Amino acid sequence: MIIKGGKAFIDGAFLEKDILIEGGKIRGIGAFSAGKIIDAKGMLVVPGLIDPHVHLREPGDSYKEDFLTGSRAAIAGGFTTVMDMPNNSVPTITAENYEKKKKLAKKAICDVILHFGATADNVSEVKKANPPSLKLYLAKTTGSLIVDLETAKKHFDSFPKERPIVLHACSDKEDEEENLKETYDLQQKVYRIARGRRLHLAHVSSKKEISMAKQHSNVTTEAAPHHLLLSTKDYPRLARMRNVLPTLKSPQKQIMLLSALEKVDCIGSDHAPHTIEDKDAGAAGFPGLETSLGAMLDLCNRGICDKIWLMQRMTENVADAFNLKDRGRLKPGYLADITIIDPKKEWEVRGADFETKCRWSPFEGFKFRGKAKTVIKNGKIIYDEYHFV
Ligand code: DOR
Ligand code: ZN
Repeated sequence: MIIKGGKAFIDGAFLEKDILIEGGKIRGIGAFSAGKIIDAKGMLVVPGLIDPHVHLREPGDSYKEDFLTGSRAAIAGGFTTVMDMPNNSVPTITAENYEKKKKLAKKAICDVILHFGATADNVSEVKKANPPSLKLYLAKTTGSLIVDLETAKKHFDSFPKERPIVLHACSDKEDEEENLKETYDLQQKVYRIARGRRLHLAHVSSKKEISMAKQHSNVTTEAAPHHLLLSTKDYPRLARMRNVLPTLKSPQKQIMLLSALEKVDCIGSDHAPHTIEDKDAGAAGFPGLETSLGAMLDLCNRGICDKIWLMQRMTENVADAFNLKDRGRLKPGYLADITIIDPKKEWEVRGADFETKCRWSPFEGFKFRGKAKTVIKNGKIIYDEYHFV
């Protein structure tokens, strides 16, 4: 199979090169003509997008999402690999649950990599499970996972140094000034005890978090589209759906965040599906897999970021942050996980059309330009012309 005539994202540039696929892998980059041809004229051909931060909710909360619906949302959004969080009502905190969850995740139609959850007394379980990454909740959020700094230090010292520990370290306070002060204080304390170990700071929602993180060379950062496109100005429109952690910030703070966007390493949707009933009861989180790419391309279209910059943050930077060696780049020998984006496709966000069980969106009615048109997973076309094959 050959993807022909598109602009392929290779080594930090869009180049007019064809991609040759064979046996589920990328075999060649250049000019080819023999084989089944996929015409990509006018399209961006990029490595299958990787989302480092999603909540697919299974097991325990599959009424909100499961591996099939969540992975269908991923593919429809252009993602071929997602990294799933451990904070289900059945949390991923023992080696046994981790193995069980891996089996459940086999029904996903994209690759799902599982983050393992840290607790006060599971250092030995982490060792037994030997996961590629560990998630530490240092503040309250959905589910019951939370650890103090003393526990954090135990995990920092025991988890292999070359693997990232993902941090949820943000205040849930309503008042913005108090919220940010608490967030910065917490993160400063973490950096003090982390002593240079590898960390990945989830969902930064303020400029200062980015500059603080940048002072430590072993810290990568991730931003979520909703913090970049939305602010407290959207509260009246979002009404009972507005809760999310980190909280949305004031319009001034949102503009400051955008001004530091260039320094962010990864984009993560923090896809956190909840039913409307659960939102009414105060649940925090937005679905994001099906809007992440469109929302980020919208920022590109508005001149706030650049498409090359963006693609790095949705593919290779995520692969590098999480030591994924076989994906995230269009390169011979890599998995043939490829997303073909139509950068001109205009579309409107409608929760009712989503693949996720969560059929609402904080971006409802937003008009975006740019969408995943075709998705190839392990060399097979599984999504084409905006529909599943
Ligand atoms: O808004 C959020 N929702 N923030 C989180 O940290 C967790 C997530 C969820 O699991 O619902
Ligand atoms: Zn999350």
